[in-house]
Amino acid sequence: MRVALGVSGGVAAYKAAELVRRLQQEGIDVQVVMTKSAQEFVTPLTFAALTGQKVITDMFGDESAGANVESAIEHIAVAQRIDLLVVAPATANTIAKMARGIADDFLTTLYLATTAPVVVAPAMNVNMWEHAATQENINALRGRGVHVVSPEEGYLACGMTGAGRLAGVEAIAKAVCGRLGIEHDLENETVIVTAGPTCEDLDPVRYLTNRSSGKMGYGLAEAAARRGARVVLISGPTRLDPPQGVEFVSVRSTEQMQAALVEHLARATAIIMAAAVADYRPIAPETKKMKRGDGRVTLELESTPDILAGIARNKGERIVVGFAAETDHVAEHARAKLESKQADVIVANDVTAEGAGFDHETNVITLYSRDGGEKAFPRMPKIDAAHRILDRILELRRAGRELSATQRAR
Ligand SMILES: Cc1cc2nc3c(=O)[nH]c(=O)nc-3n(C[C@H](O)[C@H](O)[C@H](O)COP(=O)(O)O)c2cc1C
Repeated sequence: MRVALGVSGGVAAYKAAELVRRLQQEGIDVQVVMTKSAQEFVTPLTFAALTGQKVITDMFGDESAGANVESAIEHIAVAQRIDLLVVAPATANTIAKMARGIADDFLTTLYLATTAPVVVAPAMNVNMWEHAATQENINALRGRGVHVVSPEEGYLACGMTGAGRLAGVEAIAKAVCGRLGIEHDLENETVIVTAGPTCEDLDPVRYLTNRSSGKMGYGLAEAAARRGARVVLISGPTRLDPPQGVEFVSVRSTEQMQAALVEHLARATAIIMAAAVADYRPIAPETKKMKRGDGRVTLELESTPDILAGIARNKGERIVVGFAAETDHVAEHARAKLESKQADVIVANDVTAEGAGFDHETNVITLYSRDGGEKAFPRMPKIDAAHRILDRILELRRAGRELSATQRAR
């Protein structure tokens, strides 16, 4: 999600820095646009450091419009790129210009040029806020579908008391997320996600593993955290950075993964087993590096513990989701796994399909559920596939609650 944050010239401009951070926590990419007056209160450098992006401070950039066509049409490019424009703090002046369609700086031009939803959080002296001109302008914006996050009452920077203080960062972030469709519908869940491959040592330098990149599991952890869940990500070795806001547990072998799961199981309400765990491990790993020889070598392997089946047997109210990465007879194997592992949902994918499986950014999944449900999805980014899996968990949770309510009523 991309959001442009317009900062105009009021004392509350410094609070916009906190808003940047808060939106970033939701995984939102923030492009800051400052009016000339705003730069009297906070420097663009503050926002550039927070966002890692150039802050847009004027219409024409460093060079003249004629000499730099890219910068001259930047307002159109930004207008098309963003999913939402939020102006916080919004001064009486900027609100008036927006209401009248005056476009004499980058921010007000962007407002006219974008078709994305707009959120405005006014902040000003109480008399300025209550002035008929400001109220008319605010009503005009509301009438056009602009979402206004009303200022709070309280002590104002000018020394007066009344309405005009910038709404809290949480309230503004909530309005932004609401308009972007980012919901915190998993805030009652504690989700354990397993991800990546596991490694089974042959000797101190060699091991058996598989091609799992961990992208699907990390996507699930990120998506669940964004939707408000507490997330424990138990991961085998991958090249990925753990998503922000998740508790990260690094493991190597299947046995370590099982131990970590058992340790965190008590507080989990849902478990998603996206890891590609090794099914076999050497019976007796060598303690010293195996020397090269001429003849054949036979490795004797034994089954690793069946983590999913073990968890599903003791699951209680927890919703358990397993994965079936298959190369053939996908539906058959997925349904069989649903039964044998007592899982609530099996996410099946044909790893040979185009744009699916290991190390791809996309996946093609079908969800098989214990209630008989079966839902196939087209190829989509793994983060979107993650959201579809989480949606299914929520549906099952709601269905479970309704069932309990009906049973109690009898
Ligand atoms: C110290 C100081 C604080 C100000 N605080 C506010 C404010 O909180 N809200 C507001 O609407 N205007 C405030 N103003 C007035 C605006 O800065 C002024 O109207 C300016 O033209 C706004 O420009 P802009 O809307 O392009 O950012 C303040 C001015 C000064 C000097």
